[in-house]
Amino acid sequence: MSLPSSAIASEGGVALKTAKWSFDGIFGTFDRTAIKRGGQIFFQVCGGCHSMELMSYRNLVDIGWTEDEAKELAAGYEVQDGPNEEGEMFMRPARLSDRFVPPFPNEKAARYSNGGAYPPDLSVITKARANGTNYVYSLLQGYKEEVPEHVELAEGTNYNEFFPGNQIFMAQPLYGEDVEFADGTTVDLEQEAKYIVNFLAWAAEPELEARKSLGIKVMLYLILLTGMFYALKRRIWSRLCLDEYTHGPYEEQYQKDLDDHKMPS
Ligand code: HEC
Repeated sequence: MSLPSSAIASEGGVALKTAKWSFDGIFGTFDRTAIKRGGQIFFQVCGGCHSMELMSYRNLVDIGWTEDEAKELAAGYEVQDGPNEEGEMFMRPARLSDRFVPPFPNEKAARYSNGGAYPPDLSVITKARANGTNYVYSLLQGYKEEVPEHVELAEGTNYNEFFPGNQIFMAQPLYGEDVEFADGTTVDLEQEAKYIVNFLAWAAEPELEARKSLGIKVMLYLILLTGMFYALKRRIWSRLCLDEYTHGPYEEQYQKDLDDHKMPS
């Protein structure tokens, strides 16, 4: 459990950048502020190309959006509904119960707009990649303008230190100060990468806190149970020893002790 995941290098051989994640470790919990800001980055930047089909707008309410904020966000997207009384499908604004509306209607459209590459769904991306949190964190900071001499970039690709093979179709999505948060602040690239990874890690495992707190309760329960069994064992064995003393092979000694008033009868 305590092995540092930073020890694992990316496939390209360059060691990944690492950050302190509040959700790591057995007592780890999510940082609500970071997740909310990460969500804002997702909707304003990544969501232009990537879907998150496992998430619904109402999930945002669990993690710090007010219901009105989430409703307003959802209403900015359209989903197909129907059929209506005339048997026709129609578009309506998305509601809390709808899944995140994907940027492209299907994979072909997504590839067509992205030089033939498919922007993967980000619902569980931090679980789908080895050392996923540090990997995505590094990937977003891994773009290099200067391409090493021995590398010839394929058309439409960008050089990224941490992407396996180093040539990625995704253009650098974040540069720092890309998104203005609710309180009017902006942050640098490193901090933005941290926020979006917090959001993606929560999306990939929203039940993490419940799982960890159950784990801690189970451990406490086992420790308590061990203590009780130990006390019980001592009681039973002390009784057995006493029986041996009073009625077993040491009975003579017991009688003698009794006579000497060393033992209560
Ligand atoms: C302009 C479109 C576009 C935007 C905006 C964009 N991406 Fe991508 N992304 C892509 C494409 C295309 C790929 C596939 C790249 C490839 O296969 O070479 C990709 C791949 C990825 C991958 C997978 C890398 C891998 O190991 O396979 C991750 C993770 C990712 N993007 C995260 C993000 C995040 C986080 C954001 C927002 C900060 C973002 N992307 C914004 C187009 C985009």
